[in-house]
Amino acid sequence: MDTISQEIRALAKEKDAVILAHYYVDGAVQDVADYVGDSFYLAKVAKSDPHKTIVFCGVTFMGQSANILSPDKTVLMPDLGAVCPMALMVDADKIKQMREEYEDLAVVCYINSMAEIKALSDVCVTSSNALKIVRSLPNKNIFFIPDGNLGRFVKEECPDKNVILNPGYCHVHTSITAKDVEIAFREHENAEILVHPECTQEVCELADFTGSTKEIIEYAAASNAEEFIVCTESGVLHELKKKAPGKNFYFIGAKQVCPNMKKVTLEKVRNCLLNGTGSITVSDELREAADKPLERMLELGN
Ligand code: 13P
Ligand code: SF4
Repeated sequence: MDTISQEIRALAKEKDAVILAHYYVDGAVQDVADYVGDSFYLAKVAKSDPHKTIVFCGVTFMGQSANILSPDKTVLMPDLGAVCPMALMVDADKIKQMREEYEDLAVVCYINSMAEIKALSDVCVTSSNALKIVRSLPNKNIFFIPDGNLGRFVKEECPDKNVILNPGYCHVHTSITAKDVEIAFREHENAEILVHPECTQEVCELADFTGSTKEIIEYAAASNAEEFIVCTESGVLHELKKKAPGKNFYFIGAKQVCPNMKKVTLEKVRNCLLNGTGSITVSDELREAADKPLERMLELGN
């Protein structure tokens, strides 16, 4: 372990802090963390872990959700400017309008959203539990926000529901085109194609497997295939190499980098622990409203 990582581990111990990291952050940051995982796993750890402080190495909606689920803990973000643009791609007025239009409506909110939007929603989901949760809802009409691509994936897999889509998108995943994937496949004909559901329909149609970051890693480790074309953020390669050593993974060039996740560096992790900076909180009123859909996700999504 390098010096800065040792320093971070010592500070975490001294400050009674746990470090959580999403698979998309830099590998060195993943290595210094106590827990590394996808959005759902990290939300569960944030709720159940006993440490006084959580350092959340990810984007702001993740830290915000941790604070909502665990209001007695201090949640520190190494970089408060690490914002997921998709989390802002939904309009509160649109939710109100949809509720007026459909009597039996469930507003299903991807966890990639800010607290104000969660507060207006019925249930939160992540990419690893969206299908399970939508299927379990009694409502026929589902307004899926903010990601139009994950929404479309849910719509295709839940044909008995009327899933209404919102035009939000992840600029990282939608930058991967079907043509890119086809070119990569021509070069690696034995590869299986692994796709995150934030990708476009054309890319999802080429997939051998579609799932969350964690599911993609588990699939690659269990598969008999030796080669994979991976259509999600390239940070997953760090864990893929650990879980599936010796297998080959191909990415679509420089496109698969989330600039916000990559804002988290070891220096920033150390600084927030050292100085107690980067605290993320929501007001009590907002917390109370946003907690309900998050708790419902934990209950239905497991
Ligand atoms: P998962 O971790 O749920 O796969 O989500 C990916 C993502 O884009 C998080 O921002
Ligand atoms: Fe947001 Fe996409 Fe980055 Fe995930 S990869 S944090 S959805 S911009």
